[in-house]
Amino acid sequence: MHFSPKSNTKKSKKIHSEQLDLGVTDPKFPATRYQGSKLKIADWIWENIKDIPFETVLDAFGGTACVSYMLKSKNKTVTYNDILKFNNQIGKALIQNSSTTLADKDIDALLVKCPSLNYKSIIQDNFSGIYYAEDEDKWLDIVTQNIYLMEDKFKKAIAFFALFQACIIKRPFNLFHRNNLYIRTADVERSFGNKVTWETPFDVYFRRFASEANRAVFDNGKQNRAINQDVFEINENYDLVYIDTPYISKKGATVNYHDFYHFLEGLVDYPNWHSQIDFKSKHNRLKPVKSLWNDKKLITDAFDSLFQKFQNSVIIVSYRSDGIPTVEELALVLSKYKKEIVEIEKVIYKYVLSHKESHEILLIAK
Ligand SMILES: C[S@@+](CC[C@H](N)C(=O)[O-])C[C@H]1O[C@@H](n2cnc3c(N)ncnc32)[C@H](O)[C@@H]1O
Repeated sequence: MHFSPKSNTKKSKKIHSEQLDLGVTDPKFPATRYQGSKLKIADWIWENIKDIPFETVLDAFGGTACVSYMLKSKNKTVTYNDILKFNNQIGKALIQNSSTTLADKDIDALLVKCPSLNYKSIIQDNFSGIYYAEDEDKWLDIVTQNIYLMEDKFKKAIAFFALFQACIIKRPFNLFHRNNLYIRTADVERSFGNKVTWETPFDVYFRRFASEANRAVFDNGKQNRAINQDVFEINENYDLVYIDTPYISKKGATVNYHDFYHFLEGLVDYPNWHSQIDFKSKHNRLKPVKSLWNDKKLITDAFDSLFQKFQNSVIIVSYRSDGIPTVEELALVLSKYKKEIVEIEKVIYKYVLSHKESHEILLIAK
């Protein structure tokens, strides 16, 4: 195959102490387009936990990895976890990886057909007219299979990162929850979205996001890891555990990550994708998986089990002021296992003119 695993692997970038202070506002961390991303409040989180003595930290619901990255930049030994396989690739690329980058010639090789390879057409066969244009489906089939064949796990993770970001930015609402390619293609006046963004070719985005990921790679001198487990299966001890579960709003609206991002989960499991598709759904999502975090009857007990599990660690919970359970209920559950609980609130003005606001909550339990 045309990838050489060790070639173009740059020397470790050690971050100097003054750079470490820049935290996640350091422009090296890529922009996120992910439901519930804490990128905008990562520095605020740090400000509130920086005086707690800790070395090892578990980011139990890691998502975009922006909180793990902030903690890595503060010289902590970080374990990033997320139940989704595609997110695990992001954690590998940005957290576990300390030195490997994707060279231009790796990217060039990824973007063309390899003559000796017999390509499958899973995306063209199953997602025609659902998420992307025909030529884009073809591009995705080729590039995904090329990425699959990469031998170096960190180069592969960076390539997947670039692929996911390109897929997300080209989607209306940055999601895969509906069969709604028509929003992109219809010739109508829109009050949202951006046709130029959607129509920019995959190649252009892939190169852009690969270089964003390359810029984010650094070594903090610690053995950081990215794991891919249901949080309840983790059996290790950490000084501090950061918890940012999927959230249920007061009105009962849930964020089902498996459903919203099923297409990316399919890309990362390309050979098995077809057998996992729920053909009864209009948008050919993956077969549904039940989650405690999406069930308002079960979520409070799920928090209870989680706090019990990590009761020997300092527990930090990101939450919202209008969730189910309420902040008060959550703090009560936490108080079963922890003596000292501090609640911190941050008001983010979303619409300055209409004065609508949403509150970010941080529970710090020692
Ligand atoms: C609110 S998001 C986390 C956002 C993240 N803190 C960030 O800033 O990007 C919740 C994450 O939890 C993950 N998740 C859901 N159920 C999980 C489980 N049982 N174990 C581990 N991760 C889970 C989802 O895949 C999703 O990425």
